[in-house]
Amino acid sequence: MKVAVFGAGRIAEVHVKGIIRAGHEVAGIYDIRPEPANALATQYGCAAFASPEDALGDPSIEAVVIGTSTNTHSDYIIACARAGKRIFCEKPIDLSVEVAENCWETIKSSNPFIHIGFNRRYDRHIRGLAEAVKSGELGKLENLTIISRDPAPAPIEYFKVSGGIFRDMTIHDFDIARFILGGNPAEIFATGSVLIDPEIGEIGDMDTTTVVMRSASGQLVQILNSRRAAYGFDQRIEAVCSNGMMQVDNILLDATVKYTPERSAARARPMDFFLERYGESYDEAWVDFFARLDAGDEPGVTFDDGLQALRIAEAANRSIRTGEIVKL
Ligand SMILES: NC(=O)c1ccc[n+]([C@@H]2O[C@H](COP(=O)([O-])OP(=O)(O)OC[C@H]3O[C@@H](n4cnc5c(N)ncnc54)[C@H](O)[C@@H]3O)[C@@H](O)[C@H]2O)c1
Repeated sequence: MKVAVFGAGRIAEVHVKGIIRAGHEVAGIYDIRPEPANALATQYGCAAFASPEDALGDPSIEAVVIGTSTNTHSDYIIACARAGKRIFCEKPIDLSVEVAENCWETIKSSNPFIHIGFNRRYDRHIRGLAEAVKSGELGKLENLTIISRDPAPAPIEYFKVSGGIFRDMTIHDFDIARFILGGNPAEIFATGSVLIDPEIGEIGDMDTTTVVMRSASGQLVQILNSRRAAYGFDQRIEAVCSNGMMQVDNILLDATVKYTPERSAARARPMDFFLERYGESYDEAWVDFFARLDAGDEPGVTFDDGLQALRIAEAANRSIRTGEIVKL
């Protein structure tokens, strides 16, 4: 299948590699800035498009990846759906639930194939935990803890357009919570602080947050986020069930354990960041994307999954503003 890639930034290159590794062809790349598009196109031996219409008007191109800045996603989804393309769109769909809902209203009559880029569902460790919980082998899920801490804050310019920590960062954890719970939580309480960088507070964002959610049947979920972890990218999950418990621990840089007179055992630290820790999951998402198209199935992560995670993020923001538990 020939696929066009919109965007030539950090995540777009990950998708270019994923499409090629899955055995398909990147037809060309479009970015509003020609230099990165040209550089990526040269590196991977494909075309650099002068405009999105070059890809949308080419009937031999069947699918488009939307890997551009978040504020462009919903317009590109509409343009791609109108052109009859299959779509792989990065998270989040938009920064506003209303815009995302309007986007769906505009395109739903053609029932387009849209996969949303929640790659962590394709991490084999997280998937293994989710499948074990779903199978019931550990009994009934009672308490789920998701810990996600970035190694260090991104530049302040990034945070200014990110939509805030819940829409930008916690949204992955909201999606994973939904994935493991098998549906939406019923209510949410969120709290947060600025403990790392006062500039993050000055733009109205937070760098350290805790979210507590409760499902309709009383299962409790807590999500702990931070924009800093002095010891690497901290990614852990714990699912406590009635007959046992299952964890996804950090994946370490290597498997060595050092013993010294001062320390009985020192392990390597966790992997650096998301491209290292979740590298395989991006490729797995592409394998699944093409397999589902072949089989005529629904996408593995649907537009509705993207919308629900965004709704939870908006509810978390409301909880922070009001100091109250918000019903979902
Ligand atoms: N799933 C994940 O793990 C993951 C990781 C990183 C980023 N993302 C998402 O991917 C998207 C891009 O993030 P990034 O880190 O690659 O950002 P980036 O800034 O590195 O790249 C974005 C690119 O989009 C281009 N662009 C902006 N407006 C455009 C337009 N109208 N048309 C064409 N190109 C345009 C920019 O010039 C830039 O090259 C964001 O929505 C982000 O949330 C997802």
